[in-house]
Amino acid sequence: MHLYDYAKGLVLEAGNHLRQWMTEAIDIETKSNPNDLVTNVDKAVEQFLVDQIKETYPQHQIIGEEGHGHNLTTLEGITWVIDPIDGTLNFVHQGANFAISVGVFKNGEPYAGFVYDVMADTLYHAKAGFGAYRNETLLERIPDTQLAQSLVGMNANWLAGKKITPVLMPIIRDSRSSRAYGSAALEIVHVATGQLGAYITPRLQPWDFAGGMIILEEVGGIATNFVGQPLAITHPDSVIVGNKEIHKTILQEYMKPHEDFLAPWHEHYQG
Ligand code: IPD
Ligand code: CA
Ligand code: CA
Repeated sequence: MHLYDYAKGLVLEAGNHLRQWMTEAIDIETKSNPNDLVTNVDKAVEQFLVDQIKETYPQHQIIGEEGHGHNLTTLEGITWVIDPIDGTLNFVHQGANFAISVGVFKNGEPYAGFVYDVMADTLYHAKAGFGAYRNETLLERIPDTQLAQSLVGMNANWLAGKKITPVLMPIIRDSRSSRAYGSAALEIVHVATGQLGAYITPRLQPWDFAGGMIILEEVGGIATNFVGQPLAITHPDSVIVGNKEIHKTILQEYMKPHEDFLAPWHEHYQG
């Protein structure tokens, strides 16, 4: 079977399991802080995906949020980048509005992206160079928009007295309004469908953006860090996702004046 079709089927199958597992007992643990949660379901979904991929493609590499492949030394061949549940807080508190996110890379280059909104049963997917889809519907290329006429995705926590708050506040002030969805992968696909003009966040891990980034690029959107560099699956980064026009405006008019403050990847991105 073609790798793309295999990956698509696998993500849907993981979603079926997830819907079943969430009807059983959910154990919640904290990770780096009391608000950083992980559940047995996050771990089970990642383990399911890893076991299946390893059985079918033993030579493939896998980076998964819940512990797999964090010390990869090469991106040669196929690398899967997996977030078993993106939006764990939504999963725990809402039982909805979370996604399985999978990015597949060939020699470090985008090959295919999948973001599955599990409870809405909506799969966003793209094979690089062949367009992006919401389920079986081809997504149109996103139009350019102005900040003043756009909704911007941003988590309000970043506007609550963080070191980076003074950089981000003017963007929200000058936008039409802000929205926060609680799942980076879903926010990136909301930009890919044109529902959001942009999504901005100071710190994401590769598994948060890998799948969505590939979908976004297929509709003409762009993703970089706060100083305009491309995102890479080898390290965390600050993230601006948008249609080309709004991305350019945010970068040049709102980030560039703070270049010295933003350039080094240091503690003010940590919250
Ligand atoms: C988180 C979500 C959230 C974003 C955080 C991520 P998780 O992922 O994407 O929206 O603001 O930075 O860590 O922990 O739910 O997989
Ligand atoms: Ca995540
Ligand atoms: Ca996660």
